Amino acid sequence: MSGAQSGRISIADLAAKKKAGQRWAMLTCYEQITAEIFDQAQIPVLLVGDSAGNNFLGFENTIPVTVDELIPMARAVVSASKQAMVVADFPFGSYESSAEQALETGVRFFKEAKVGAVKLEGGVKVVPQIEKLIAAGIPVMGHLGLTPQSVHALGGFKVQGRGDDGDRIIKDAKALAAAGVFAIVLEAVPAQLAAQITAELSIPTIGIGAGGGCDAQVLVWTDLMGLTAKMPKLAKAYRNLRKEMNDAAIEFAQDVAAGRFPTEEQSFK
Ligand code: KIV
Repeated sequence: MSGAQSGRISIADLAAKKKAGQRWAMLTCYEQITAEIFDQAQIPVLLVGDSAGNNFLGFENTIPVTVDELIPMARAVVSASKQAMVVADFPFGSYESSAEQALETGVRFFKEAKVGAVKLEGGVKVVPQIEKLIAAGIPVMGHLGLTPQSVHALGGFKVQGRGDDGDRIIKDAKALAAAGVFAIVLEAVPAQLAAQITAELSIPTIGIGAGGGCDAQVLVWTDLMGLTAKMPKLAKAYRNLRKEMNDAAIEFAQDVAAGRFPTEEQSFK
């Protein structure tokens, strides 16, 4: 049980899906309307990701995002959803210093946004943070491979774990699992490596650019809906809402200019 979100998808439910070989989907979500829609669509896990930085807040990447910016988003997603587990991302700078700093951040997300779990990036080096959070009753999701908060150290948005480097990611995945994370995101790693990690771990793996061998898949919702101007290779647009929204905005402006909006239907007597 996640404890913090009764009646919602729990860690035990996700573990049972892995056991039964049932794959599932996770979506990012940053506000009320998409939370309502994705929750009604029975998406089991909604991630209030720090990808809000470059999909909502207008930053170049995730690095400038703060806890104070993510908390109101997480609160909106929790209050607009009923069945989903809501996971909040720890932004860069909110957990690296110490286990105590990570606990402070986790407590804020738990008390102020009432999320069911948190996610943080990194392998062996963040094990003390993970252990501290779990000991306090805060479930943790891990994130390995291309960890966007380390984009400068990684030398860009590059596939991780090719060749011998795969051993590092396997070691990190096993360390996170031993520390007690309930799931691990694998981002931009070779499909074969992700499949091997998935087979070797008893907890679910969630892939993004990690091939079809993971237990679950995650997409940034603006990519899924075709709103992102420059689509990353690891994503698929299932709709073209950018065009739909552009067309609707133009149509509205034309109707206003031509006196076609509002009509009697939108007017009051
Ligand atoms: O912030 C985010 O959206 C993420 C996903 C890509 C896993 O971390």
